Amino acid sequence: MRTKILPSLLAADMARLGEEVKRAEAAGADALHLDIMDGCFVPNISFGPDVVAMARRNTQVPLSVHLMLAHPDRYIDRFVKAGADTILIHAEASCDVAGTLAAIRGFGVAAGIVLNPGTPVTALDGLMGKFDEVLCMTVVPGYGGQAFMDSVLPVIAAVRAKVGDAMTVMVDGGIDRDTISKARHAGANAFVAGSALFHAADMAAEIGCMTHCTG
Ligand code: DX5
Ligand code: ZN
Repeated sequence: MRTKILPSLLAADMARLGEEVKRAEAAGADALHLDIMDGCFVPNISFGPDVVAMARRNTQVPLSVHLMLAHPDRYIDRFVKAGADTILIHAEASCDVAGTLAAIRGFGVAAGIVLNPGTPVTALDGLMGKFDEVLCMTVVPGYGGQAFMDSVLPVIAAVRAKVGDAMTVMVDGGIDRDTISKARHAGANAFVAGSALFHAADMAAEIGCMTHCTG
């Protein structure tokens, strides 16, 4: 499967977000990753639908919206209206996860399911056929700039075995030019990266390196 790289806007310069969105597109981003945090499901608070709408106005690339919300079901329509192309919800969320995935698809938007580190692959058992992609967290969600957790590698491999070769299996957290190989060998084909891309001197060169590095 083709490698996809998704810069995470959480690591962008918040004083000039519109330009940062354009910078990621110009650097060759396959899509943008937007982290929505409610201070409840995760301890941090980030941004909401208005920032997704801002991104939509500033780029043509698909917008992948990662909802770290205790109650994502209450906000799906707002992120659809804001311009999300994919909406990802956590298997650990306090809602009817299968019903929320169906609601996302009902809007004509792709639905993704996210597994925290430590969540077993069996969390997907009742959800098969109800999502379009899987995101494996390779850090405990909430903050950018954390170290990649090797303990998730067997989970990535188990997810790939479960969903087959055709589905996108994405990883998020601590991905850089060194850790990407481990995640790729485990079976991931799509990679979210915040710090490694927005803090790089040359984002295009970094995306190129991450796309083609085969180590
Ligand atoms: C973490 C977020 C990530 C974060 C990744 O809770 O879900 O998307 O932006 O940042 P880095 O790449 O810096 O680990
Ligand atoms: Zn994320």
